[in-house]
Amino acid sequence: MKPRVAIVIGKRGRGSNMAALVRAMQNGKVEAEPAIVVSSSGVAPGLQTATELGVPTGVFESTQQLLEKLDGIDYICLAGFMSLFPAEILAKFPNRVLNIHPALLPKFGGKGMYGMHVHQAVIESGETESGCTVHYVSDQYDEGTIILQLRCPVMQGDTAEELAARVLSLEHQAYPAALNVAIKNLENQRDL
Ligand code: GRF
Repeated sequence: MKPRVAIVIGKRGRGSNMAALVRAMQNGKVEAEPAIVVSSSGVAPGLQTATELGVPTGVFESTQQLLEKLDGIDYICLAGFMSLFPAEILAKFPNRVLNIHPALLPKFGGKGMYGMHVHQAVIESGETESGCTVHYVSDQYDEGTIILQLRCPVMQGDTAEELAARVLSLEHQAYPAALNVAIKNLENQRDL
């Protein structure tokens, strides 16, 4: 049976990474099933997108409710989920919770480093390169073992929005590829 994946989007989650993951599973680029898309807010725009893609959705208001939605799930992909992920759930899903960050961690990560703040900081620090990082989730913001990074240039005169758009198109390639790696990693462990 294919592993079942839950995707957790943010309160205001636009859900573009979620959609990239779902499409990659639906077209067989990732051998897994998009089982559910959940958010802590019923008005997250990504929930509508998930429904259009034919994926069940759910809303949670507490850790307990989230755990119930994750019943029978093998992997959890955070995509635009801005809070620390509950330790209680991490303990139940070792090496099975992934996150994507729009910069080359360990640089430009941590509390407060989200959205345009990240890209603004990259530009202000004079970096010539940025990109995205998919990593396993730990109990600290943007820490946890890195699974995969993709890189792109920072152009002279880039605005944060321009850089964000360049990084976002990389994110949509990186996340499905990293999910494949995470699934293979656990399969290989099982074969040992
Ligand atoms: C992405 O930039 C991701 O790296 C970050 O939050 C953003 C979510 O965008 N964690 P989207 O909702 O997937 O479009």
